[in-house]
Amino acid sequence: MSSTATITYGEQSVQLPVITGTENESAIDIAKLRDTTGLITLDSGFKNTGATKSAITYLDGENGILKYRGYAIEELAEKSTFLEVAYLLIYGKLPNKKEIEDFQFQISRHTLVHEDMKKFFDGFPSKSHPMGQLSSLICSLSSFYPESLNPHQTPEEQNLTIIKLLAKMATIVSWIYKKSLGHPLIYPQNKYDYVTNFMHMTFGQRTEEVVIDPVVVNAMNVLLILHADHEQNCSTSTVRIVGSADCNLYASISAGISALWGPLHGGANQAVIEMLEQIKNDGGDVAKWVNKAKDKNDPFRLMGFGHRVYKNFDPRAKIIKKACDDVLAKLGVNDPVLDIAKQLEAAALSDPYFVERKLYPNVDFYSGIIYRALGFPTDMFTVLFALGRLPGWIAQWKEMRENKEPIGRPRQVYVGEVDLKYVPLAQR
Ligand code: SDX
Repeated sequence: MSSTATITYGEQSVQLPVITGTENESAIDIAKLRDTTGLITLDSGFKNTGATKSAITYLDGENGILKYRGYAIEELAEKSTFLEVAYLLIYGKLPNKKEIEDFQFQISRHTLVHEDMKKFFDGFPSKSHPMGQLSSLICSLSSFYPESLNPHQTPEEQNLTIIKLLAKMATIVSWIYKKSLGHPLIYPQNKYDYVTNFMHMTFGQRTEEVVIDPVVVNAMNVLLILHADHEQNCSTSTVRIVGSADCNLYASISAGISALWGPLHGGANQAVIEMLEQIKNDGGDVAKWVNKAKDKNDPFRLMGFGHRVYKNFDPRAKIIKKACDDVLAKLGVNDPVLDIAKQLEAAALSDPYFVERKLYPNVDFYSGIIYRALGFPTDMFTVLFALGRLPGWIAQWKEMRENKEPIGRPRQVYVGEVDLKYVPLAQR
């Protein structure tokens, strides 16, 4: 296969290199396109444009394949833990026993947050959305750890910044939840592993020792693993482009959290439950809502359906759907919206509108049902997505900096007014 592509434009013809990745994806490298032809490319939403070369995560949208550092998501979800997957994504390999114990120990040293951070919590209105709080609180870490502002930290200094963020994010997420209830904050306990500690801080009580059900810890591990990275999605691209301006890690991740908040992206897991509740309260007429989703004049979309890359089943949705039945049965939870979700999925997957457009359930379609069974309120779902995606965002930011990528600055095609003369106010 030729390793060049020819672009012919008018009298000009230019050959551009074609690069091929380790999973046989190929791309035209257009770095020299503008210099040689004066042309740029235009690709609204970057549907056909690669922003970088990355060794972290591989997606095959046509075949529903997802791999972290070469390992299939199905194996990691079944056999690994979230902390081990975080290590894999950030450092590029599965840790040995000493490495994972050291990683866990380092994180346990940094789970507390500065006591002054509590003042931020007190400043938020009681009903403020957890994602807005999280984005602000994570960015505020740069105030408490100003050494992180140095874009030229040594690898050791950068790693400490990474460890602090991984450790403190779980504490901050649990405190956002506790503050929403008006409950006293629960502090981390170093005797627990990462996920158990998070669940302890979230559902523990000051008045008595609450034993966290291993079924719940296992389900949370799986959910966090499934959300840990997803190559160049909207929020990860945001983290990379903010980081490309030599922005510190905390500010870059804060920007990613804001991007994830969008209902078309990570906010979909909250929107799915709200949609299922709306259908239930409307009498459960699934066909009516499927038709609304197909109607171009109706803004309603089937939340949790469709994906920019997956044109087959999202492998994560398959795993979560199975976990749904398993976890709800083990916890003895009967959630009526699960039945509606299954009816909706069946109706959509047999409808030509969805089949022709290759719209399948994505990671957000079933995840909210499990989060709800684990005891989380709906407006915390996207915050849980962010907690899971944190190691992926960190890994992508770290890779971008290690590769010394230039500041991200796309071009445009100008279509506005040309050569207007200023008209004084009195004459307008
Ligand atoms: C995540 O990118 C990632 O990797 C993201 C993510 C990650 O892990 O980081 O996987 C997480 O964000 C998952 C997606 C969560 N969002 C939702 O569930 C929201 C509902 N889905 C859509 O809004 C939509 O499918 C997107 C945003 C996910 C993808 O949009 P695209 O790729 O821009 O596709 P499109 O909007 O151009 O849709 C193509 C066609 C259109 O119809 P036509 O114009 O061809 O007639 O499909 C239709 C759309 O109207 N369509 C839908 C639909 N999704 C697409 N119609 C009804 N319901 C839907 N959900």
